[in-house]
Amino acid sequence: MCIFIFAGFVPFLLLLSIEGSVGRPFYPLPSKNEVKHRKSLQTFRPYNIAHRGSNGELPEETTGAYMRAIEEGADFIETDILATKDGSLICFHDVTLDETTDIAKHKEFANRIKTYEVQGDNVTGWFIVDFTLAELKTLRVKQRYKFRDQKYNGKFSIITFEEFISIALDADRIVGIYPEIKNPVFINQRVKWADGKKFEDKFVETLLKYGYKGAYMSKEWQKQPVFIQSFAPTSLVYISNFTDSPKIFLIDDVTMPTQDTNQSYWDITSDKYLEFIKDYVVGIGPWKDTIVPVENNYLGPPTDLVAKAHAHDLQVHPYTYRNEQTFLHLDFHQDPYEEYSYWINKIGVDGLFTDFTGSLHNYQEWTAPSSKEDDGDASGLLHKIASMISSFKND
Ligand SMILES: *[C@@H]1O[C@H](CO)[C@@H](O)[C@H](O)[C@H]1NC(C)=O
Ligand SMILES: *[C@@H]1O[C@H](CO)[C@@H](O)[C@H](O)[C@H]1NC(C)=O
Ligand SMILES: *[C@@H]1O[C@H](CO)[C@@H](O)[C@H](O)[C@H]1NC(C)=O
Repeated sequence: MCIFIFAGFVPFLLLLSIEGSVGRPFYPLPSKNEVKHRKSLQTFRPYNIAHRGSNGELPEETTGAYMRAIEEGADFIETDILATKDGSLICFHDVTLDETTDIAKHKEFANRIKTYEVQGDNVTGWFIVDFTLAELKTLRVKQRYKFRDQKYNGKFSIITFEEFISIALDADRIVGIYPEIKNPVFINQRVKWADGKKFEDKFVETLLKYGYKGAYMSKEWQKQPVFIQSFAPTSLVYISNFTDSPKIFLIDDVTMPTQDTNQSYWDITSDKYLEFIKDYVVGIGPWKDTIVPVENNYLGPPTDLVAKAHAHDLQVHPYTYRNEQTFLHLDFHQDPYEEYSYWINKIGVDGLFTDFTGSLHNYQEWTAPSSKEDDGDASGLLHKIASMISSFKND
């Protein structure tokens, strides 16, 4: 009991220390923390994938959101990788800064608004690709949705791919990473690297630099688990020459063609295509409403996509599970546990992208508890105590 109360307090103390020290990096690079016995990744139940961190609670893709997700039991922390004007890889979802930063308040950037074509649409805004990393670091991130907690707006800056990796490597147990090669067609059009390499090369180089390698479930993988994800099949096929890390092919809404090969949803979910792509990926990541189509906010009959993928030995990691009323379909009686139960027990998915890692973790610990034999918990607690003490020292 004591442990539960104590563990509950840690995130808040850590968050307080973050708020008080926005200017300095929170983690040394590369990871210097010596943790001898780190609890291993659970692999006996569907993966809890913290979508942009615990972004249901803290602004997405920030140190705070990722640390919170780790405290709450994420198996993987998920991120979208984009590139800056000067070629740095950063964690950010949109190609524009408008929705989730305070860019509009920065008068010095007022003349930087542009219009570019992105996946067939003309988009106007402040584009990541027009800013250097140093410029982006002067911005502060905010919550995307008005109905979520606004308390942490302005407390966190944009982080790099390397900073994200160090958060995972510094965790008190083994936590996987799940980075996306985001908008590769657009990024390769707009960002050029001096060595002539492209976005996908830089992405893989970063993973290799920090030791992410090895096939799914290999010893190397279990030490530093990673899933590489992309909506662009060409990128996944291309990088398979440079890394054997497991890859997940993301699948968009039925109306969206692929950004690189202009293939339809029906084409890329056909048996023929799954048979082709399975040589390069270990699974697919479809939007959940395409697996079980929704009408008038009620679920319709499930499609056979999960059965088809499993028949091709592909995992299925759908996105995105969100607790709020505005996202929960009426079948679930406003109860996110009912939604998790449906997808895990009835549809049989292998991983879930969620904005509320804590809820998914609690549900899974309740219905499929992890082994108590692992001594990781005890050493994890000691590490938490050490982190607390060092955070006090720094203040
Ligand atoms: C985007 O804007 C350009 C320039 O105005 C125009 O030529 C092009 O047709 C537009 N594209 C789309 C998809 O609307
Ligand atoms: C992978 O490497 C092989 C051998 O060098 C080459 O023939 C092939 O085109 C490469 N594949 C991609 C997708 O670049
Ligand atoms: C993509 O495919 C659609 C449907 O086949 C076609 O109408 C459209 O012109 C294609 N777009 C591009 C950019 O090739």
